[in-house]
Amino acid sequence: MSGSTPQLAGRILSGIQPTGNLHLGNYLGAIRNWVALQKSFECLFCVVDLHAITVWQEPKELLRATREVAAGMIASGIDPVANTLFVQSHVPAHAELAWVFNCVARLGWLNRMTQFKDKAGKDKEKASAGLYVYPNLMAADILVYKATHVPVGEDQKQHLELARDIAAKFNNDYGVNVFPLPEPVIKGPGTRVMSLRDGAKKMSKSDPSDFSRINMTDTQDDIAGKVRKATTDPGTLPDSPQGLEGRAEAANLLNIYAALTDRTLEQVIAETAGWQFSQFKAKLTETAVAVLGPINAEMQRLMADPAEIDRVLARGSEKANAIAETVLAEAYAAVGFLPRKR
Ligand code: TYM
Repeated sequence: MSGSTPQLAGRILSGIQPTGNLHLGNYLGAIRNWVALQKSFECLFCVVDLHAITVWQEPKELLRATREVAAGMIASGIDPVANTLFVQSHVPAHAELAWVFNCVARLGWLNRMTQFKDKAGKDKEKASAGLYVYPNLMAADILVYKATHVPVGEDQKQHLELARDIAAKFNNDYGVNVFPLPEPVIKGPGTRVMSLRDGAKKMSKSDPSDFSRINMTDTQDDIAGKVRKATTDPGTLPDSPQGLEGRAEAANLLNIYAALTDRTLEQVIAETAGWQFSQFKAKLTETAVAVLGPINAEMQRLMADPAEIDRVLARGSEKANAIAETVLAEAYAAVGFLPRKR
């Protein structure tokens, strides 16, 4: 039999910060989609520790969370052999290209970034300089591999637009065609998972209330308790998407259910129309436990052998470095830097 390799649709790069616990938003907005895309794309997945320190991280906790994010990706079904799974700080070309991009991106562009405004809060003077130039580093993460597609949650859209602007300006300023413009892949009902307490707020690692999110390490009891306490409204479940207008919490729970079962919002509405929330919450709990339970167990198993995780990540960084160094050299040559003698 002739073993023909299927044609890949492009190259993917995406990343997750090792800050706090992985949660359902990370899983449904990013990781679950990566698992589906890994068959048709060449994929690089990265634990972005350089991004994490743009706000203070306890060193021991950062180290633990770095391995845990890698374990979470593998436990969810990312194949670390077929794909490239690595830690950002192990590939120096990210930071090196980011410096060039600091000189390409305009202050006006960075001033528009809503995530900086949200994270810096009221006292911008006290935010780190790194937090401000964070999007330039993110552009470097993507472009240092000439990635063509970037699967992320909705909250990263503005950063991806900036990465495209940086790629276009670099190419234009230097009269080259080094960087392709990366396409955002933001698809499905899980791209914006909201807090379980407040349907207007994104589910996030930094929310002070642990009841606002389902962590990938939560036990069955934790999940049941959080879903039971999730904010709802006095109605029953609607029979059409229009019936979700002004009902952010109900919409969120239905979107979560749809994403967990790989269905559309319309399909799950057809199943649950007219249900009481109590009945729906029981179903949602059962589904979330069935999906997350085995992942959680596999994460624990992987975390029991950190040396093995480190070996997987070391192999990944070797593969990543090989690509990134070549692209960095191409960018440096375009800029006019004297070639480094090897
Ligand atoms: P981070 O670490 O905040 O989140 C990792 C991924 O999870 C998605 N996500 C969500 N999706 C749906 N609903 C939510 N509530 C939710 N919360 C998080 C994010 O959209 C993301 O896809 N800047 C990035 C990390 C990064 C990156 C990159 C991503 C650095 N370099 C290059 C792609 C390409 C971030 O802070 O993600």
